[in-house]
Amino acid sequence: MNIEQIGPVGAEITDIDLSITDRIPAEAIKEAFLKYSVLVFKNQELSPKDLKNVSLVWGEPLIHPVFKGMEDYPEIIKIKNLGEKYHTNAHWHSDVTFEEEPPNATLLYSIEIPDTGGDTLFSNQYLAYEDLSESYKEYLDNKVAIHSNLGVLILAGGEAKDAKEVEHPIFRTHPETGRKALYVTEAFVKQIKDVESEISQETLSKLYKHSSDKNYVYRHKWTKGDLVVWDNRCVLHYAEHGYGDQNRTMHRITTAGSKPF
Ligand SMILES: [Fe+2]
Repeated sequence: MNIEQIGPVGAEITDIDLSITDRIPAEAIKEAFLKYSVLVFKNQELSPKDLKNVSLVWGEPLIHPVFKGMEDYPEIIKIKNLGEKYHTNAHWHSDVTFEEEPPNATLLYSIEIPDTGGDTLFSNQYLAYEDLSESYKEYLDNKVAIHSNLGVLILAGGEAKDAKEVEHPIFRTHPETGRKALYVTEAFVKQIKDVESEISQETLSKLYKHSSDKNYVYRHKWTKGDLVVWDNRCVLHYAEHGYGDQNRTMHRITTAGSKPF
């Protein structure tokens, strides 16, 4: 297994076949994951069964609270091109932060890739936190953000009355590395708790802009057979569209997380 850093966040792992179940070097992979936050495994051939098995390196695979999974593998969501209009992931976010315990890791495996477009961008939120001014860090230190699933619910055909909200700290401490990361997502955060609405929006806008600064970002250009795994506790991601009506198929799994603190 070779590991090569690929940008402000992420490493490419080569010389490994993740379909050979009893030869997955779980400890070495976990170590690299905590160090680089995004891992790119090239040229993998993974059946849904293999993918589910690989996900166990990160923990228990989860069933998505809103989107339905595959018949035989309810943990795996098949992501198809629904057209730009119905593409739900073209915004900076961490996955499913409207849950009390959002998933630690997301695994995304490419089955079918368009000729153009469809890049996924990742942003390092440790660096985003560390670069904030001391006064900003102090001001936001014990503040929490209110996250809502309203947007996702409406997209999935649900009703606004069923929307739910949870609170998470704006600066999240990674439970395994102990490092602090900025933890706000434009798609799911409604406001900063106990802060006047206008100031809250102004502050959030600044944080969103800062969190996706190009100095923290790695852009992944997919090829067929890539497995990309990212750490939702310290990374934001953004799924670009731009592939018109071309086919693009991915399999996605998330693994169990814990309550952010
Ligand atoms: Fe996502």
